[in-house]
Amino acid sequence: YSLQSLNTFGIDVKAKYFVEIHSIEQYHALLNSGLYAHVPHIFWGGGSNVLLTQDLNALVVKIAIGGIEVIKEDNQYVWVRAGAGVVWHDFVQYTVSHHWAGIENLSLIPGTVGAAPMQNIGAYGVEIKDTFDHLQAFHLATHTLETFDALACQFGYRESYFKHEGKGKYVIAYVCFKLNKVATPKTSYGAIQEVLEAKSITHPTIQDVSNAVIEIRQSKLPDPKEIGNSGSFFKNPTLDKDSAAELMEKYPQIPHYPLAASTDIKFPAGWLIEQAGWKGLREGDAGVHTKQALVLVNYGQATGKQILALSEQIKQSILSKFGVVLETEVNIL
Ligand code: EPU
Repeated sequence: YSLQSLNTFGIDVKAKYFVEIHSIEQYHALLNSGLYAHVPHIFWGGGSNVLLTQDLNALVVKIAIGGIEVIKEDNQYVWVRAGAGVVWHDFVQYTVSHHWAGIENLSLIPGTVGAAPMQNIGAYGVEIKDTFDHLQAFHLATHTLETFDALACQFGYRESYFKHEGKGKYVIAYVCFKLNKVATPKTSYGAIQEVLEAKSITHPTIQDVSNAVIEIRQSKLPDPKEIGNSGSFFKNPTLDKDSAAELMEKYPQIPHYPLAASTDIKFPAGWLIEQAGWKGLREGDAGVHTKQALVLVNYGQATGKQILALSEQIKQSILSKFGVVLETEVNIL
């Protein structure tokens, strides 16, 4: 079964078996099947944060549980629950059209609702942890549906429990967000302000913010339907105070973001990669995006191994030029 249309990098590898799950009943039926018992299995979301480097001798289970419903509301908040298989941007548009504020800054992020908590997706000044209420996930060992609140999810920058202790132990089925009926648009991110100012919007609605984010993303980030990619390939590195000071002394122009919770400082990997001369570079069909050096792209026929090799070269180069270790954000399979 070709996975080419199931990963946004557009890598052409095959899975031995493939099945789609649309409901909890179908999930239970699968668990009781011989195939599930005898073949290694991999759970699949939108395939938007994965680099496939080889055929998978496994059963790929795509979680396609749909539906969006309001499960509770009061005068100020609405608790909205979506199935893990709902396309993330469709969910964002649904909430924006109902004037429920909180995730509009996360417009146009590829992937599904179920994948969003895995790495606490974030962009333009907002992370899902800010409006996350709870999720329900199957515990693979006991087949029961367990509830996780934000604390249990252990959210961090592009991190959660499900990437660490919980890895491989749970399948996310539903995610519930607590959204605000009283709109408080978050426009502190510089690029959003610029777009709003250019349009002379002084009192933005959440729809205006969503539109601005869409405009910014379309101007910088490649559309996976046109050029294969998985968004940021690396995480932005965080350095301790002393290492950060050293780097900033050598490169006074380097953009940097102090972290609220510690004296550590975060630096944009895209800047480092561009300064090292990689931006726009292409080796065969594997390349570094021309407008955002943090994004690796597949111009058509690149293999996962070629993209992985390019990423290793970039890591090596950033280490020798800046002494900074880049961590991969995308999951390598
Ligand atoms: N920069 C460069 N050259 C580049 C790219 C960036 O010099 O080629 C500099 C920019 O000038 C800017 C800074 O790096 O000063 C930050 O760039 P940008 O605002 O584009 O954000 P980013 O740090 O590169 C992060 C997220 C993105 C998210 C944006 C906006 C990570 C790993 N990436 O990128 O998330 O959309 O901020 O909030 O944190 C993703 O995770 O897949 C993703 C796209």
